[in-house]
Amino acid sequence: MCGIIGVTGRASAVDDILSGLRRLEYRGYDSSGVVAVTSDRLGVVKRSGKLDRLSEALGTDVLTGSTGIGHTRWATHGAPTDDNAHPHLDPTGRVAVVHNGIIENYRLLRAELDGAAFASETDTEVVAHLVARELDAVDGPDLLEAVRRVLGRLEGAYALCVLSADEPDTIVVARQQAPLIVAAIDGVGLCASDVAALIEYTDTCAALLDGQIARVRPGSYEVFDRNGDPAQAEEFTVDWDLSAAEKQGYEHFMLKEIHEQPIAVAETLLGRDDGAGRIVLDELRIDPAELARIDKVFILAAGTSLHAGMAGKIAIEHWAGIPVEVEVASEFRYRDPIVTDRTLVIAISQSGETIDTIAAADHARAQGAPVVAISNVVGSTLTRSADAVLYTRAGPEIAVASTKAFTTQIVACLVLALYLAQRKDRAFASEVSDVLARLDELPGLIRRVVEDDTAIRAAAERFKDVGYTMFIGRHAGLPIAYEGALKLKEVSYLHAEAFPAGEMKHGPIALIEPGSLVVAVAHDGHVFSKMVSNIQEVRARGASVLAIGTESSRAALEAHADVVITVPDAPHELATPVLTVLPLQLYAYYVAVLRGADVDQPRNLAKTVTVE
Ligand code: M6R
Repeated sequence: MCGIIGVTGRASAVDDILSGLRRLEYRGYDSSGVVAVTSDRLGVVKRSGKLDRLSEALGTDVLTGSTGIGHTRWATHGAPTDDNAHPHLDPTGRVAVVHNGIIENYRLLRAELDGAAFASETDTEVVAHLVARELDAVDGPDLLEAVRRVLGRLEGAYALCVLSADEPDTIVVARQQAPLIVAAIDGVGLCASDVAALIEYTDTCAALLDGQIARVRPGSYEVFDRNGDPAQAEEFTVDWDLSAAEKQGYEHFMLKEIHEQPIAVAETLLGRDDGAGRIVLDELRIDPAELARIDKVFILAAGTSLHAGMAGKIAIEHWAGIPVEVEVASEFRYRDPIVTDRTLVIAISQSGETIDTIAAADHARAQGAPVVAISNVVGSTLTRSADAVLYTRAGPEIAVASTKAFTTQIVACLVLALYLAQRKDRAFASEVSDVLARLDELPGLIRRVVEDDTAIRAAAERFKDVGYTMFIGRHAGLPIAYEGALKLKEVSYLHAEAFPAGEMKHGPIALIEPGSLVVAVAHDGHVFSKMVSNIQEVRARGASVLAIGTESSRAALEAHADVVITVPDAPHELATPVLTVLPLQLYAYYVAVLRGADVDQPRNLAKTVTVE
């Protein structure tokens, strides 16, 4: 959940680290710090709070040096204080460490360092102590070997960057279940949690694999396995540039990313039809014949990606006729799911680094199931381990609240559903081409919604102080009810919950009283009349209703709801969620802005959840 970066070989290393941390801040933002080698000793500045506090401190506490490492934190062990902020040093101040992950056996390791004084409550500090002890031993090894020896004693997940004053232009990095990339350009060596931090310098990086360790020096990096033998990291090139990771005039990344959805969806659909009605996946390492045998699908994901999976389930069952279970990834591996080699796992993750989703997919693969990843990040851990990949080509998503990732994930699910239908001989090439051609209308329809948000702003103004909002939906509207509630609570901190509309009478309707707000996702379709009945039931009990519908259902909704916001009719009913979610993304955004919330960096959250 934390962001780490290292730079060696640039006179401006500290400034570079600070600007890299700005692009990593979405990974965690409760404290930050930087350490640089200054005249053969380590200089450290760290602060609790947002990165601006570190930036201010660096303005006065001038720190220079051509080699340094930095960190932006999402606290796991120890409160977000100055002391617990990374980097952490050994007691002599000659070794510094930044870390993303959790060292699970840190208490044991601390106890073994009998009598050592620790300056923080973190799990990370013990790593600096251990590396320093290895270096201090008679005939002590070099930094690479010292770190390698220490890694053999660590349990848990980590991406580590280690610096020693005795090897002033070297950064040693190591990876175990937490992302870490390295890169080299003219005279400069770089390492970071992800490409967002390095895109300013290069679009070509290498992702370390689990168990690998690397020595980064000015202009080069060398990769080794856990035994110290030379190894290869996975090189990859990113196809977006720095401007994609900047706000480009928008007040917030969230708003910018909402407005990027027409292009993101268009890119995700691009080239999926090979011209003969066959669907093209980005990476296919499964025998297509194996997919024809699939008799069960698990969709595994978390948060917003889980809601996209719910929409995907409806499409796969409809087109491919395969039973689908959608499961919260963090639950999957702690029960006994029935998985065989005829079970297909679809793991959905924007970042491709969510630990729960990766672990769940690995758990299924170990039982023989092929895994298809739907991800937005090329080269991410999930995409490298999956048997096939369908990329959502949404470009970097920086706001913690996921928006363009969601709509592109649904589109990817629709494409995958059609692909499976073909493998199962349930769809003709002409039918697939026809549906894909209709989906090509989506970008234009999305643009119409996001470019005219007057009614949505007015609704946000009217309901911004309602403390509890209930979201209801049915069929393809239900995932949108869940997603609408998640968006509202994470950016505005208002209490929101979603229910299948048909469940209301089984309990939740007891919450409704005069003044309650119900958001009903009620697009035109075969469950529309049932949604209208549910709307009438909550209104009869005093609730205000904000209905999200489609243009052809507007008149009917206006007869029953207090506020009606419609989107254009979708080119296919199963694509409706791609449109109905848009007003709810904008509604959550405007409510949060009106309430003065920190839209892009909501409290307690981080963009990528790399710890359990
Ligand atoms: O990167 P992932 O798609 O695996 O992330 C999953 C969730 O952590 C993510 O969707 C989260 O729920 C977002 N904050 C939602 O806006």
